[in-house]
Amino acid sequence: MISALLRPAVPADEPFLWEMLYEASHAAEQGLTVADLETIPALSRYVDGWGAEGDLGVVGGPAESPCGAAWVRLFTGANAAYGYVDDATPELAIAVAPSARGTGLGTAMLERLVADAAGRYPAMSLSVREENPARRLYQRLGFADVPGSRIVNRAGTTSVTMVLPLR
Ligand SMILES: CC(C)(COP(=O)(O)OP(=O)(O)OC[C@H]1O[C@@H](n2cnc3c(N)ncnc32)[C@H](O)[C@@H]1OP(=O)(O)O)[C@@H](O)C(=O)NCCC(=O)NCCS
Repeated sequence: MISALLRPAVPADEPFLWEMLYEASHAAEQGLTVADLETIPALSRYVDGWGAEGDLGVVGGPAESPCGAAWVRLFTGANAAYGYVDDATPELAIAVAPSARGTGLGTAMLERLVADAAGRYPAMSLSVREENPARRLYQRLGFADVPGSRIVNRAGTTSVTMVLPLR
């Protein structure tokens, strides 16, 4: 049962979160390595120093070989990330290892994270490429597009910011 395979993301998960950030940011398309991410501030800010105050995440999969993670981190205006909406709303990153996709793990992790974040944060936001099938997952869980948030992303396609109210 998938719910039994979920646990909170702890500081020791930082190396695994770098791997998941690699998937979430589609870094392979740009010929990057996982190590390269640490040199790109626009991406490294999602994982660097994981376990800081306010960080909240879920790791999914077998204990000895996790295969997915969903996490939120709060960014303030001076350090606004791609899906920034305001200083009180943390931003979501989520990925499942390619071999484990489409089996419900992403949904289970996100549902758990939303439950954990409710009462702690007023909302969560994210930035997603308009053509990413993950948009259907976000819409199912109640995320809605932020009007006027479409931007041209690093890949030259369009990304949109989505927000899920938690209260
Ligand atoms: C998005 C992702 C985390 C979902 O996890 P998952 O375990 O595959 O998802 P589930 O099996 O619970 O749910 C399936 C939903 O995931 C999304 N999805 C499925 N395959 C996907 C893929 N290859 N890429 C992106 N999203 C996918 C769809 O929304 C799908 O819903 P649908 O069945 O209505 O089309 C995972 O597919 C992934 O890591 N994708 C690549 C990284 C990514 O795009 N991250 C989000 C960046 S904003």
